[in-house]
This record gives sequence, C-alpha cells and structure tokens, in this order.
Amino acid sequence: MKKLYKRISIMMLAVFVFTFLAAGCSGEEEVHNKKTLRVGVVKYIEQDDYINALTDCLRGDFEKMEKSYGLHIVVTVKNGAGKQAIQDKVVEEMIDAGCDILCVDLVDRTAPTKIINMARKNNIPVIFFNRELVREDLMQWEKLYYVGGDAAASGIMQGELAAGDIQSDAKADRNRDGRIQYVVLEGETGHQDAILRTDEAVGTLTAKGVKLDKIRYEIADWSKDQARNKMSQLIRQHHAQIELVLANNDAMALGAREAYEQSGLEKKDYPKIYGIDGLKDGLKAVASGELQGTVYNDKEGQAQQMALLSMALYRNETLKNFSFHDRKYLLLPYQKVDGEEAVKRVHLKNFSK
Ligand code: GAL
Repeated sequence: MKKLYKRISIMMLAVFVFTFLAAGCSGEEEVHNKKTLRVGVVKYIEQDDYINALTDCLRGDFEKMEKSYGLHIVVTVKNGAGKQAIQDKVVEEMIDAGCDILCVDLVDRTAPTKIINMARKNNIPVIFFNRELVREDLMQWEKLYYVGGDAAASGIMQGELAAGDIQSDAKADRNRDGRIQYVVLEGETGHQDAILRTDEAVGTLTAKGVKLDKIRYEIADWSKDQARNKMSQLIRQHHAQIELVLANNDAMALGAREAYEQSGLEKKDYPKIYGIDGLKDGLKAVASGELQGTVYNDKEGQAQQMALLSMALYRNETLKNFSFHDRKYLLLPYQKVDGEEAVKRVHLKNFSK
C-alpha cells in the first residue's frame, strides 16, 4: 500500500513538472488541445512611450489572430533594461522557455551577434524592430528580418513641414536677419532614427532655400525630461534668439515646449517646434498649436507587419505577400501631420480630452 502511494506521488510530481515546463514563455498553461504559438517580445528598456504603444498594438493584433487562426497565442513582453548583456540573457531565457518567434528591439543595434547565434542554434526566427541592425548582420541567417520605419523619410517630412511654415510666415525670422537660428534635440547617439532624422531635416530645409544658423545640437535620449532640462539651459544662454527647434521625436519636442512655458518668455518669442511619432500627446499638442508639426510613425502598420510575419513564419508559409525591401526589410511609410491634420486625427481618435 505504502509503495502504491509513493508511486502515485512520484507520478503526480512528474505531471506537475511537465505542466510547469510546458508552460513556456509566460507560465500559462496550454489551452485544451489548441496549438500554442509563443511569441517573445524584448524591448530595449521598460519605459519608452512609442515602443510601448507599438507593443500594445502588437498584443492587440495577436489577440485578433487567436480567433481567426484558431490558435492559442502567448505573448510575453520583457526588456533589456538598457543593457545589451541583460537583453541577451532575457532572450536566452525566452528561448529556454520554449518561444517559437522572437521580436527584438535591440539595445545596441551594432551588437546582435549573441542573439542571432542563440536563435539560429535553436531555429527560432527573429524579427528585429525599431533599431535597425547593419545589413551584414541581418544577412547572417535566412530567418532574420527587420520591421521599422523609413527613418530618412521622416527627417525629410519634418524638414518640409518646417520649411513650408517658415516660408509662409514672415514672423518666423524674428530678428529679421534673413536666417533661422535653430536647435536640434537628438535621440540617442548612434540610433539610425536620430542620425537620419537630423541630417535629412536640416538638409531638406537648406535644399528648400531656408538659410540656417546652428545654435546647438543636444542629445536628449528621446526623453521629455532631458529635453526640457537641456532646452531650459539653452534658453538661459540664448534668451529669445532661438527661432526653430527640430526634435527627433515628440517627447523631446514637448519637453522643449515645457521649457519655454517655464522660461517666462512671451509666447511671441517662442520658436517653431517640430517632433516625430504622432502619439496621443504629440497630436494633441499639434492640434492646439503648442507644437507646429509632427510626423506620424506608423506603429499600427509596423505592429501588423510583425504579427503577420510571425504567423507566416510559425506556419512555415510562403512570404510572397510581404513587400520586402532587400529580402529582409519591411519599412513602413511615415505621414506628415500639420495643425489641420492633427485636429482631424484627434477628433477621429476621440482623444480630445
Ligand atoms: C524611434 C521613436 C522614438 C523612440 C525610439 C526608440 O523610432 O521615434 O520616440 O521610441 O524609436 O528606439
């Protein structure tokens, strides 16, 4: 009798251990006998408004797909805490937990090798997103892809918006010296979006005949707080001299605007300020005239392509319906948003409050 009990307890323990291991990425159980797709999403840090909004869209897309594909889909979202070594470890854990597909926003876009090697060894496709790795790395293995925006195009659009406003508003050149004194607030050093947005926005303004005087380029790591602090410092040094602020994203543009509001300067002495992303706060600020423009970074489109590609890779389907550029890149277009367009979008999305 004792022996029987012992056997039963060993069997129960075995069943428990098996269930636990099979729980995979998220610790959730297999649902009935539906097949389970496990997606591991690894962001570069915990808090980035744009990346978090994109990740929410991605979750939403997978939720819809659960029904249409009759699958159980488990999406686990983690982050690399701003350190590549930590992100590598997180990816390793996700692979050990049984992920089928990885979506990775690299901390350091020049250092994807560990992740690529681990994924390749375990035959797990990787969709890199947002931080574009160099082409040679992406070409290392057939199951690597990149989904993002066309960074250069966003800079061109920002430059076009600013040039149009400056050329149609005689008051833009406040000191009437025939030149525009400007500041650029940049995202992180080495990020393709920061480099290309800055170069292309400035290049477009110049190509359109706007004469520019650079006051300063400041790195503010995509952050509103950093941008507000750096801009406050610049206002203390240059008072009402700055006529244009080009920010690599909306968070930094909003930080710049706050610095002006706290500066004591009169509104007529504020510069024109432009951002990129078109998240809720950015759109609202453009609609109300606090910012003069933004460029819509299509998070819905990028998330949708990532979800569709994950599914096609999981089901081993042909990828002929995807519009790849250079076999590996899915690049979504940006859209210009001026005041009028922002009002429409705010109204449409019903987030006027
Ligand atoms: C950019 C976006 C920024 C920030 C960055 C992170 O595309 O415009 O707001 O999210 O990605 O890598």
